[in-house]
Amino acid sequence: MIVKHAPTALCTLLLATLAACGTPATPAAPFPPTLVLPTRVPIQPTADSRVAVTTPRAAPTVVAAVPTRTPTRARPSPTPTITLIPPTSTPVPPTETPTPSPTPQPDPARGAILFANGFPGRPNVPTCASCHYVEPVEVNDLVGPVMYGLADRAARRDPNEVSAVSYLRNSITQPNKYLVPNEGDKVYAVGGVSLMHQTYAQDLTPEEINDLVAYMLTLRAR
Ligand code: HEC
Repeated sequence: MIVKHAPTALCTLLLATLAACGTPATPAAPFPPTLVLPTRVPIQPTADSRVAVTTPRAAPTVVAAVPTRTPTRARPSPTPTITLIPPTSTPVPPTETPTPSPTPQPDPARGAILFANGFPGRPNVPTCASCHYVEPVEVNDLVGPVMYGLADRAARRDPNEVSAVSYLRNSITQPNKYLVPNEGDKVYAVGGVSLMHQTYAQDLTPEEINDLVAYMLTLRAR
């Protein structure tokens, strides 16, 4: 502070000295314009610098700008649209395809799916379930016999068959080999020809037939 005020202090001192030296009768003449003013030490901008500056500044006239119109506020839309970016499916690196064994084990679970849902890529090949119920109650009058408990009677159906497996297999591939006798007003065959789809032997793969047979062997009366 002292340092900063030094010029002012000096000046005051000089003025005081001059005033003291001057004759009281003649008022002190104004400083000649050539008076060398003490060099101003530039005020370093310190934290106190604002305090040090004593020169009052004319307060700027603040003219309150009257808003001409009420500013329209951007109203937030009631429901912000959030576009969900679907997760990009990461391509699964090709895993090693297991070499299929020449004769895959017959799978009743796969057979059940085929029986109920049909055959992939072959929409014209009729689904077994469109003609056969596997539950005891026949809700609609389907073309084929109800298969509930079929596994229990398959071995005894056709005296020319050696096993339930061969009977079930031939029922698919050669529907006319053995014809289930008509039941009451239910007609299953006309003129020795079964009403069952006739070309499953060509329409299905050997694996699919195996799976269907495996599934039908599970259809026991409970
Ligand atoms: C268009 C109707 C129809 C479709 C589809 C059909 N069947 Fe049949 N199915 C019949 C009829 C009718 C019979 C009875 C006449 C006969 O013995 O062929 C029958 C009989 C059978 C029998 C003998 C049942 C018994 O009680 O002895 C088996 C087994 C059989 N079908 C399996 C299948 C399988 C498996 C499929 C699907 C791959 C299938 N059927 C699709 C109509 C159909």
